[in-house]
Amino acid sequence: MDTLDRSVTPATGQRTDLREFLDKVDAAGQLLRIDGVDWDLEMGGVAEIVSHTRSESPAVLFDNIPGYPPGFRVLSAGTNSSKRVALAMNLPEPKTPMELVRAYRDRMKTHAPIPHRVVESGSVLENVDREDAVDLYKFPVPRVHEEDGGRYIGTHDLVIMRDPDSDWVNAGTYRVQVHDKDTVGIYISPGKHGRQIRDKHFERGLPCPVLISCGQHPVLTLAGNHDVKYGVTEFDYAGGHLGAPVQVIKSELYGLPMPADAEIVLEGEMYADKKAIEGPFGEFTGYYANPQAEQPIVKIRRVYYRNNPIITMAVPMRPPTDISYGKCIIKSAMIWDEVEKAGLSGVTGVWCHEAGIGRLFNVISIKQAYAGHAKQAAMLAANVQSGNYLGRFVVVVDDDVDPTDMFDVLWVMCTRCDPVADIDFMRNSWSSPLDPMLEKGAKQYANSRAIIDACRPFDRLKTFPKVARATPELLERVREKFGALLADI
Ligand SMILES: Cc1cc2nc3c(=O)[nH]c(=O)nc-3n(C[C@H](O)[C@H](O)[C@H](O)COP(=O)(O)O)c2cc1C
Repeated sequence: MDTLDRSVTPATGQRTDLREFLDKVDAAGQLLRIDGVDWDLEMGGVAEIVSHTRSESPAVLFDNIPGYPPGFRVLSAGTNSSKRVALAMNLPEPKTPMELVRAYRDRMKTHAPIPHRVVESGSVLENVDREDAVDLYKFPVPRVHEEDGGRYIGTHDLVIMRDPDSDWVNAGTYRVQVHDKDTVGIYISPGKHGRQIRDKHFERGLPCPVLISCGQHPVLTLAGNHDVKYGVTEFDYAGGHLGAPVQVIKSELYGLPMPADAEIVLEGEMYADKKAIEGPFGEFTGYYANPQAEQPIVKIRRVYYRNNPIITMAVPMRPPTDISYGKCIIKSAMIWDEVEKAGLSGVTGVWCHEAGIGRLFNVISIKQAYAGHAKQAAMLAANVQSGNYLGRFVVVVDDDVDPTDMFDVLWVMCTRCDPVADIDFMRNSWSSPLDPMLEKGAKQYANSRAIIDACRPFDRLKTFPKVARATPELLERVREKFGALLADI
């Protein structure tokens, strides 16, 4: 029986319950329930068909998975629509994705992290398996692509670790492969916060304690897979969005915080000297660039889980994917916020295009106020924390261009950009083994960027050829007069 206090007060903190979120998604008509889909490849296939059909596609909840008890579920695409991102972040329902980007960035002007609050009880403690009782195969862990090296229990997850030099707890989304009933492997790219924390432990000859939350409320997942600043705990960042501290429970072995209403949380230690082959796994760029390699293993000694648990799944693949649209919305808002916090004025929009999966093709629009403004905007968009990792192209456009409209963006690249004068390059920038353009065995994971200025030249703003199109007044007049004839076009 659930005896939890569901109120949200500063004293108890904020519950973050995936199921309450799913009820709202269902009520909004955005939840597709499918029974009988196999964990082995079929869920990955359904996720691909749904996310390739249209953007703003529904979330998919898999139940009655063959070989598993009814109620042991897997969720795909939880936040892959603007409405669901708004629901997760407690923002008003937007009419357009840019409206949501603006609302998120507006909130960030006053957003401050709220420290998480430790509570004694929560639904994640409904079941606890210890030591020899641990068996990860009791959950319907999916194998999502045919070429994958195995089953991944963590894809839209949170890997929670504590910095050995401070109290800082980081919660990042890193993929987690099941090796056997109580062993997993985690892949963390060089430079990521979790990698830095892991390596600090290893350099001191210590195992690295870790919690892996395999299903949780999307506000936590969104915090986990976006570039929250070094030193800021993702739970606190999420609390800042919810307006109350996120409730956490201390884990039995290491006192690490787990979301009190998480669906499944694994606890164990990661070892520098115990490794197993991890991967390959389909990657967010749409390729298998990072070959199978040894990664440190985690011995799982505790599994905390709710009755009828839900694994939150992501299927990285050739985009669009079941997470790419939601990711683009948050990424765009974070870049907008960060370039403004760096002092830039005149930004009218930022949009990370889904073909670049929120990282590789980003557009910023500005109202130019001075010579060099456009270059400054593009360079900042490419270099703020949210915009830097594995980037490729940043395009800056004038404020008459909608950055979400690829046709418009390409039009001004074709007509306001002199490639020799207006494309600059950044070299030696933060990349990753996942970058398909890097040679296998590269000595360091750095790449180059094109910074494309597709704004009118500042000194020709007044004399640049006029755009040839009808005024809104003329169009309105024509619409009024011939609307009936044009209705079917
Ligand atoms: C679905 C999904 C899966 C991800 N998987 C990984 C991964 O396996 N390894 C990794 O280093 N980053 C992965 N990322 C990216 C990180 O989650 C992201 O860069 C995040 O900011 C990392 O947290 P950190 O900044 O605290 O290091 C993934 C992102 C998403 C959306």
